[in-house]
Amino acid sequence: MDFKEKIRVIQDFPQPGIRFKDITTLLKDGKAYKAAIDSMIEQLKGKEIDLIVGPEARGFVVAAPLATALGVGFVPVRKKGKLPAETIEESYGLEYGKDVLAIHKDAIQPGQKVLIADDLLATGGTIGATMNLVQKLQGEVVGAAFLIELTYLQGREKLKGLDIISLVKY
Ligand code: PRP
Repeated sequence: MDFKEKIRVIQDFPQPGIRFKDITTLLKDGKAYKAAIDSMIEQLKGKEIDLIVGPEARGFVVAAPLATALGVGFVPVRKKGKLPAETIEESYGLEYGKDVLAIHKDAIQPGQKVLIADDLLATGGTIGATMNLVQKLQGEVVGAAFLIELTYLQGREKLKGLDIISLVKY
C-alpha cells in the first residue's frame, strides 16, 4: 500500500514554513491503519520485545496497536504533570518548541527489552528524551519504530546506534 498517499500535508502548520504531516487521514481509513501497523510488525519480526513505550499524544496511536499485536505491554510517556504516580522527567527540544517528558518510575523492570514507537521521527528530540527515560529505569532500548521519518532533519544521526524502522520517508 502507498502509505504516503494516505498522509495529508498541511503547509504552514503550526508555524510558517512547517509542512505538517497529518496522519489523521491515514488513521480514519481502517484498511490503511491496519496495513500500516501490520507492515511495522512485519519489519519488527525476529526482534525480542518485552514492552513498547510511546510518547503522547500521536505516539499512542502507533505504540498501543503495536503492543496489542505483539501481545506485550504498553507504557505511556507523557508531558510533565499528566501522570498520576511517581515519575522521572527529562527535558528536550522539539522541531518547534521545548518540553518536559515524564514516565512512571515503576513502569519498567530493569533489563526489560523496550521498543520505542511514535508517529514521527523529526529532529529525534522526543525519542532521545524517551530513550533517556527508559535507560534511567534500566530498560534496554532494542529499537524504535515510526510511521513517518523526516530524513532531512537527520534524527537518525542523532540516535546513532539505535535500530530504527520507519514506514514512510520524506
Ligand atoms: C510530535 C510527534 C513526535 C515528535 C517528533 O509530537 O508526534 O512525537 O513531535 O519530533 P522530534 O523528532 O523533533 O522530537 P508533539 O510533541 O508535537 O506532540 P503530540 O503528539 O502530542 O502532538
